[in-house]
Amino acid sequence: MSDVTTLTPVLTKDWGVEQSWTMRAYLDGGGYAGLRAALAQAPGDVITAVKDSGLRGRGGAGFPTGMKWGFLPAPDGGPRYLVINADESEPGTCKDIPLMMASPQLLIEGAIITSYAIGCSHAFIYLRGEVVHVYRRLMRAVEEAYAAGYLGKNIMGSGFDLDITVHAGAGAYICGEETALLDSLEGRRGQPRLKPPFPAVAGLYARPTVVNNVETIASVPAILKGGPQWFREMGTERSPGFGIFSLSGHVQRPGQYEAPLGITLRRLLEMAGGIREGHELKFWTPGGSSTPIFTAEHLDIPLDYESVAAAGSMLGTRALQIFDETTSVVRAVTRWTEFYKHESCGKCTPCREGTFWLAQVLRRIEAGKGTSEDIDLLLDLCDNILGRAFCALGDGATSPITSAIKYFREEFEAGTHTPADELFPPERSSKF
Ligand code: NAI
Repeated sequence: MSDVTTLTPVLTKDWGVEQSWTMRAYLDGGGYAGLRAALAQAPGDVITAVKDSGLRGRGGAGFPTGMKWGFLPAPDGGPRYLVINADESEPGTCKDIPLMMASPQLLIEGAIITSYAIGCSHAFIYLRGEVVHVYRRLMRAVEEAYAAGYLGKNIMGSGFDLDITVHAGAGAYICGEETALLDSLEGRRGQPRLKPPFPAVAGLYARPTVVNNVETIASVPAILKGGPQWFREMGTERSPGFGIFSLSGHVQRPGQYEAPLGITLRRLLEMAGGIREGHELKFWTPGGSSTPIFTAEHLDIPLDYESVAAAGSMLGTRALQIFDETTSVVRAVTRWTEFYKHESCGKCTPCREGTFWLAQVLRRIEAGKGTSEDIDLLLDLCDNILGRAFCALGDGATSPITSAIKYFREEFEAGTHTPADELFPPERSSKF
């Protein structure tokens, strides 16, 4: 295992290159060597290489990628699909968009290798609707790939055919949930489907489908080029490889930092110039706002799936939102909760009603008008959402609240001194 703090950039290596998004620049930098290596192997061997690398899904859940590909049933002559989830919307998460802007061919190369491995002849990139500039860049990159013979019929003389469609959604957070995304792609209102069946068995148009995040697919060419052992030299035993860590908030140099999994926030902060001058770290999210918050005591937790989970949170999307001591934790949590309330798709009651009431209670605590019962009420609401919502959105909405109360209960208590009788006159029955 290499030094967990250093890395020769892989995903971000071309970010400083002039017009890095063009086919010319990509080829000059060694692009499409991974595809060449993949096409020289049988599709099953490509799946084995990705399995052996230990690559885990970079969209947040960290599911083993090769294993997911291996779940597809045996070919039956019908179509099977690759759908790339480019609907990045988790608060604080901003890695896939710069990746697609700087290196769209890297994503396309990964999509071709993956499609070849799983036997797919039509892949989709589902992009969040608001990012029109990314849509234009991807469309242009797909055109360039067709013109260069990397897409279409008989790719690089291999006999393998592939078309890619770039589809822009309409800007709903829920459409990042893989089955809601599939509904949206099929032309319906995006709402999560019941799982199982997982998309691997019945996905797009009820056909076997692999859904993978942008960064996951963009990591594939390097694995084919460098080999699984090279990939495993970085990161940790169970969380191998590298990833993009997005630092935002009260840091000197916010931005994307590519590093091996297992790096600590302390080291990332050194790379980012530290907390803004004259201030100190108060709390942070390891993987976006739907992962439980951490505090300064967690600066040395290795940012890999296992260590973060053992410390009570989730690695998620590696969106490190950093807050210094000037931030009100109640205020931050209220803003996140309002986001989840707004984005709840309304399909299931715990999430639809629960996020609404969470936001109501938090708003009055933030305004200093909460009652002494409100903290317990918040925890009770969270308890009734967690594990009972239809998809991960509801669970995610509870994470910042329960963790913030755990670490900063006194800040919530400071907003809860209103006598209950004043807020709820006896004639009103609801506690809300
Ligand atoms: P999940 O753990 O339910 O599934 C992960 C992946 O593994 C899915 O593709 C699923 O189809 C597949 N899978 C799991 N078990 C399977 C089985 N037995 N057979 C076949 N396939 C199987 O997690 P989910 O709900 O897909 O994602 C939750 C995560 O998404 C959260 O941890 C959060 O960090 C992240 N997230 C990311 C966002 C972003 O903007 N990137 C936005 C919101 C959440």
